[in-house]
Amino acid sequence: MTTIIGVSGSLRRGSFNSALLRAAAALMPVGVELKIESIEGIPLYNGDVEASEGIPNRVAELKTTIAGADGSLLVTPEYNNSMPGVFKNAIDWLSRPASDIPSVFGGKPVVVMGASPGRFGTALSQNAWLPVLRTLGTKPWFGGRLLVSRAQTIFDEHGSLKDEVTRKQLEQFLKGFAEFVQA
Ligand SMILES: Cc1cc2nc3c(=O)[nH]c(=O)nc-3n(C[C@H](O)[C@H](O)[C@H](O)COP(=O)(O)O)c2cc1C
Repeated sequence: MTTIIGVSGSLRRGSFNSALLRAAAALMPVGVELKIESIEGIPLYNGDVEASEGIPNRVAELKTTIAGADGSLLVTPEYNNSMPGVFKNAIDWLSRPASDIPSVFGGKPVVVMGASPGRFGTALSQNAWLPVLRTLGTKPWFGGRLLVSRAQTIFDEHGSLKDEVTRKQLEQFLKGFAEFVQA
């Protein structure tokens, strides 16, 4: 079984990005499990806290989970044409200490997708992640893109994916990434 860790970069209960992640979990190809993780409970990064108390338990736990998986799927909202601070903060904690970066992220398949009520479906946020993914030494997949725009028309009031075109696009996207992870 191939395991991919999926993380949504939103803490909002009605998050479109978390809804997209849940939809992805249900559409993974046979033989691939998408394990949903969360950035909930990760404190703001503070170098003094790291120096005096070390890595917070939740961060250490998530580092172990990501390190033990075959790949990661980051589902990013877009804030002010970039990634949300809360999501970047979580990844910053996960990159500490820097000596652990190779075992957590190094050479690991990663892909980014996202949803927005706007017209551009997180294109700029996804681009903003590129230098981060490069700095962490990941192996990003560029074989497909998933930009979910007008998200309020794509999900129903319970956060279920109701748009058939998007469902097909998501399925294709996940199939491509899964093949990349398994190659
Ligand atoms: C501070 C802030 C800035 C935002 N900037 C953008 C933006 O640049 N582009 C965009 O498409 N949506 C922007 N939005 C709208 C978000 O896409 C929208 O709130 C979305 O629902 C957030 O993702 P979520 O549903 O997963 O929480 C912004 C929202 C906030 C709170």
